[in-house]
Amino acid sequence: MNSSATLVQNTIETIEWTPNGVVMIDQRRLPRETAFVTCRTYVDVADAIRNMTIRGAPAIGVAAAMGVALGALKSEDLDSEMPLICETLAGTRPTAVNLFWAIERMRQLYSSIRQLNLSEIRARLIKEAQKIRDEDIAINEAIGRYGAPLVPDGRTVLTHCNAGALATAGFGTALGVIRAAVQLGKKIDVFADETRPFLQGARLTAWELQRDGIETTLITDNMAGHFLKSGRIGCVVVGADRIAANGDVANKIGTYGLAVLAKENSVPFYVAAPTSTLDLTLASGDQIPIEERAAHEVTHVQGVHFAPEGIHVANPAFDVTPNRYVSAIVTEHGVARAPYTDSLRELRERG
Ligand code: MRU
Repeated sequence: MNSSATLVQNTIETIEWTPNGVVMIDQRRLPRETAFVTCRTYVDVADAIRNMTIRGAPAIGVAAAMGVALGALKSEDLDSEMPLICETLAGTRPTAVNLFWAIERMRQLYSSIRQLNLSEIRARLIKEAQKIRDEDIAINEAIGRYGAPLVPDGRTVLTHCNAGALATAGFGTALGVIRAAVQLGKKIDVFADETRPFLQGARLTAWELQRDGIETTLITDNMAGHFLKSGRIGCVVVGADRIAANGDVANKIGTYGLAVLAKENSVPFYVAAPTSTLDLTLASGDQIPIEERAAHEVTHVQGVHFAPEGIHVANPAFDVTPNRYVSAIVTEHGVARAPYTDSLRELRERG
């Protein structure tokens, strides 16, 4: 096995606030082309979240915060329009709690500064959205610092979906752990699940890691069990969209199967996520809403229709991994282990 000696981290600008609007890399078109979309209104941002121009739990949180700021910029009567702005952005995707966390943070700030004049309110909301973005990068670097020691040297790391720079404001959560392990000098390589149906692994994770010079092997989802059994995989690291108080983890569909296979083969299964992904109001993962996406994502691959016309299709975008399969949850405040009800609460209080 061979690994990149030095990590060249090619900065990816996932999302940025600019004088023209919110600019995001169009993740639907990667890796074929690097194109950018400019959102000029909060409705544009809501559309971009819904249609997966931007995706990944922390990234859609940042997008929603910038969407609220854009809404404020265009509104002359925020008191009456703020509820609709927040509802529109919150109505885009139901599973990742970071979306609701970011909207709530913006809404609370607005409530505390409503008495100021409109231009001051707008400036404060824009600043807060940019702060959420900048904080996210720092948080991911901290997750990397806590997670890197868990990655066994000289082994292969298996990951699912894309929990990288593209899924966040930068550096990534699961890929942040991998990047930090490489920065520590660990000789690791990565197996990336392709992640049907939307192919975040094949299109985005493979692209990101290749740009960084981290040796990466792309596998189809149904190959994961074979490689976990082979003894080659040293650990699995994935991101999360929502983590319940008991440590049950909602993440990209297919994560649950991977976790069961990891446990069966005594391979540690790590989840890397910011504390904004914790939803301690939910006792267990059974209460996490699972997004159902359009049938064409299953019947088509990159625009090519390969299934019989009229076939029934199911397309849950996420599944819930019970806490007993999770070896540890890595956050920006430290590493939580079972029993998660205690360890996650402690980490949240530390924040
Ligand atoms: O449907 P997506 O692409 O938004 O799903 C993304 C995932 O499931 C990621 O693993 C999760 O959001 C963590 S991103 C740091």
